[in-house]
Amino acid sequence: MTWLITGGAGYIGAHVVRAMTEAGEKAVVYDDLSTGIAERVPDGVPLVVGSVLDGERVARALADHSVTGVVHLAAKKQVGESVDLPLHYYRENVEGLRVLLEAVTAAGVPSFVFSSSAAVYGMPDVDLVTEETPCLPMSPYGETKLAGEWLVRATGRASGLSTASLRYFNVAGAASPELADTGVYNLVPMVFEKLTEGAAPRVFGDDYATPDGTCVRDYIHVVDLAEAHVAAARALQASPGSALTLNIGRGEGVSVREMIDRINSLTGHDHPPTVTPRRPGDPARVVASADRAAVELDWKAKYDVEDMITSAWAGWVRLHPGAARD
Ligand code: WQD
Repeated sequence: MTWLITGGAGYIGAHVVRAMTEAGEKAVVYDDLSTGIAERVPDGVPLVVGSVLDGERVARALADHSVTGVVHLAAKKQVGESVDLPLHYYRENVEGLRVLLEAVTAAGVPSFVFSSSAAVYGMPDVDLVTEETPCLPMSPYGETKLAGEWLVRATGRASGLSTASLRYFNVAGAASPELADTGVYNLVPMVFEKLTEGAAPRVFGDDYATPDGTCVRDYIHVVDLAEAHVAAARALQASPGSALTLNIGRGEGVSVREMIDRINSLTGHDHPPTVTPRRPGDPARVVASADRAAVELDWKAKYDVEDMITSAWAGWVRLHPGAARD
């Protein structure tokens, strides 16, 4: 199989490319390099620079490389930005997907893996979120991911395309320092940044109805997430006509305070956090039931929070050498 991986020069996409090629699949990266980094694409993997909104360019890439499956990660992913720029998010994430699917179905490509998000659930009022938990996204970003799932599923039903939508929970870590996330938009890098500045990490609210009052999330190592894509790709190949929707998490809740404590101790820092007001829109607890992915994909996460923090820190120190502690 040859997989076209859109967004393959991004943080998660580059890990998917690595996992796919290590599993013996051929990969081609399709990325507009708006946030992706060409150096993340390994030698021997072709890079097509283009937007998913450019249907002709996508069609040419599918034909030129005899593509037999697509993993679609190219998208905008900042929740806060999506509130200010909803038109941009719908265009990039929903219209981009529609144009891509048009090319995919016209070319007769049989398999499609879609990068979705736990953001589709919004503020779930359950201990463990299953795929049957109602989807009530709280941001335009989450809406575009839910609309994307609908579009993917409807296209599969109409055309016979086999599909899998993977709902990522909170992704962290890196396979190697060069592949680490360079953005500072999530808890782990935001805490790294504060520690590097010699400032206190921030806890956005400690009055939630959780054991220590801080928000609880399900953190998943990006290498485990990438392996889930390989498993999904194989499952679609094995069962044409599939329409999978799967949580990709570990099923284990970790609080913001616990994460900051672990980050301090694993990076050799000792900077107690300060509590700031709640960040608007944050749900108290979002933890996956990972059972369906285990059954459907025979996949389970292998790495823990310590692995995520230490591997992410190695990537951070590479970019911010002054941050290292002896
Ligand atoms: C985690 C927790 C913060 C920084 C978002 C999207 C989701 C996915 C991942 C997808 C929250 C708290 C953070 C800090 C803090 N995105 N926090 N101090 O909001 O769970 O999920 O990113 O592509 O769809 O919604 O992730 O890492 O921003 O925050 O207290 O300095 O850490 O309030 O409770 P979130 P996050």
